[in-house]
Amino acid sequence: MEYFTLNDGNKIPAVGFGVFMIPNDGSTYKAVTEALKAGYRHIDTASAYFNETEVGKAVKDSGIPREDIFVTSKLWLQDYGYEAAKKGIDASLQKLGFDYMDMYLLHQPYGDVAGAWKALEEAKGEGKIRSIGISNMTPGLYQKFVPQFTTKPAVNQVECNPLFQQKALRETMNTDDVRVECWYPLGHGSKELLENHVIARLAAKYNKNSGQIILRFEVQEGFIVLPKSTNPGRIAGNLDIFDFELKEAEMDEMRGLDTGKGTHDPEAPGVAEMLLGAFDIHAGK
Ligand code: A2P
Repeated sequence: MEYFTLNDGNKIPAVGFGVFMIPNDGSTYKAVTEALKAGYRHIDTASAYFNETEVGKAVKDSGIPREDIFVTSKLWLQDYGYEAAKKGIDASLQKLGFDYMDMYLLHQPYGDVAGAWKALEEAKGEGKIRSIGISNMTPGLYQKFVPQFTTKPAVNQVECNPLFQQKALRETMNTDDVRVECWYPLGHGSKELLENHVIARLAAKYNKNSGQIILRFEVQEGFIVLPKSTNPGRIAGNLDIFDFELKEAEMDEMRGLDTGKGTHDPEAPGVAEMLLGAFDIHAGK
């Protein structure tokens, strides 16, 4: 496993296991247990995934020392604003059954972001959270919010894959040394990406599958990746990307696949309202 050093000095495993949409009915416990067995040491959850309790239980029951596993969770929109965020942070800690979280993110960039961020900064000062970050911030939203922050975010978790390499965002965040974390690092399984001829050729050359080439490219480019799979072979395989290296010319070829477009536009009209109404975090649904 490879680690990156964040701008706050903390280390994070380059590949993490995401549990978005896995229910809290035993399936999350099972998936996280399997992932830890396969060698993952980084789990990415969120209060809006409603499965923090099973993530925490699987981490505890694994027998792996707590400090060897990097766990991220996220604050949902309903808990934005300073006072609500303080409670939201404590609720996540309680559900996970932890006395600290390795990382905590503002899940969406709407509402009282500055107040919520202040609560994250304080919780970091108190040792409840080691690293704090943001998510789904475009260059425009980053410029709107982050200049007001005292502490710079360690990461911005956004949609990112070879077809959408977030070049403008990376340029915007460069001076603050904020690292990109990729959700949908495999383009959510899109054929356009997985069957791309450049990727297929590199897969044949290195005797890897297309997913592994994509993830290798992303990690070599400096991205933290959160690949999703329910297939045990691919869960293990997506971690097996550290025994080969893409050459600079191959990295350039992969960089050339960027279209500058993704599936989710956080600035599109109505998105903030749609997300705010998507869950009732306190009712657990
Ligand atoms: P499966 O669960 O059957 O493995 P993303 O992480 O970008 O959201 O992509 C997830 C999708 O990609 C899932 O449909 C998953 O299917 C598929 N997938 C995961 N790993 C690989 C891989 N190594 N090669 C091809 N497809 C993969």
